[in-house]
Amino acid sequence: MNDRRSSLRLLPDAAGLAEAARLLSDGRTVAFPTETVYGLGADACDPAAVARIYAAKERPRFNPLIAHLADADAARMQGVFDADASRLAAAFWPGPLTLVVPAGRGCTVCDLARAGLASVALRVPGNGLARDLLARVGRPVAAPSANRSGRVSPTCAAHVLADLDGRIDAVLDGGTAPVGVESTVVACLGGPPRLLRPGGITRADLERVLGRALAGPEAGGEAVPVGPGLLASHYAPRARVRLDAVTVEPDEAVLRFARMPESPGAPAAFDLSPTGDLAEAAANLFSALRHLDASGAATIAVAPIPPDGLGEAINDRLRRAAAPR
Ligand code: TXA
Ligand code: MG
Repeated sequence: MNDRRSSLRLLPDAAGLAEAARLLSDGRTVAFPTETVYGLGADACDPAAVARIYAAKERPRFNPLIAHLADADAARMQGVFDADASRLAAAFWPGPLTLVVPAGRGCTVCDLARAGLASVALRVPGNGLARDLLARVGRPVAAPSANRSGRVSPTCAAHVLADLDGRIDAVLDGGTAPVGVESTVVACLGGPPRLLRPGGITRADLERVLGRALAGPEAGGEAVPVGPGLLASHYAPRARVRLDAVTVEPDEAVLRFARMPESPGAPAAFDLSPTGDLAEAAANLFSALRHLDASGAATIAVAPIPPDGLGEAINDRLRRAAAPR
């Protein structure tokens, strides 16, 4: 947290980038765009800086953070990559993939960011602005999604400020995050790789590169063993979320997909993709939930979303939004 009344809004130009890098190098918190969602960044090597992330988000400290690097070479210096991790990194970095690997001897990501684990989560984001920022900082930057813990992830600077204004030092405004769901998290810890969290890279794409089926995610889905129910509810709007709705009650807000019947009386409605395109649906998901929540409706009825491709990540986020709190 900072003592400013509101957080700085930085433009994605040379001056904005320089200021964002300076703040991060000084141990301050800066939200920045990646291709998936906005992250709340801090120097991953500095425990005091990382503590500011946990404080701003009110995030449980047993939930470790992803360290972001400017390129794959910098990432490889932090961890031990087996053949599968190397293959996945070569195929999908830069991009929406996070690899959980054993921390290497040269790992500089602090214990607090790793929640005391012997592993480290590494990601090279796909968007140029993020990589420019990371290159300027020259150190790993820890960055969870830039929302209050348990809330819907932000896909634009306005979402970040709605949750965190005055609690973080700055946000670098780089427009809308195009993928819209978080990175896919895969653990390569010796033995067969495991899918810990579905995300922007589909299971089918990972399996094509690995040449075999990918196990996981475990029921509950969060990457780290935690108390049941604690993180099962996540990505939650204030409204109750009702999944697989094929009919809509008159007072419900509606999250549509493709061919769901019209509901003209609904307090609010949003079609994730009128043409049934899952990439478009993922890109719209979190802003749609925020929009429908703002209508004040007590319940959001959600159309069935097919489970394949990006549908796996979309359904994962929706199940968490619907989980009992
Ligand atoms: O797209 C994304 O991944 C975004 C952007 C900002 O990069 N970040 C993000 O971070 O979604 P976060 O903190 O919301 O999610 C990180 C996930 C959590 O499920 C966490 O438990 C898992 O990664 N994780 C981090 N380190 C881990 C580790 N050492 N072992 C297992 N899981 C880990
Ligand atoms: Mg998050």
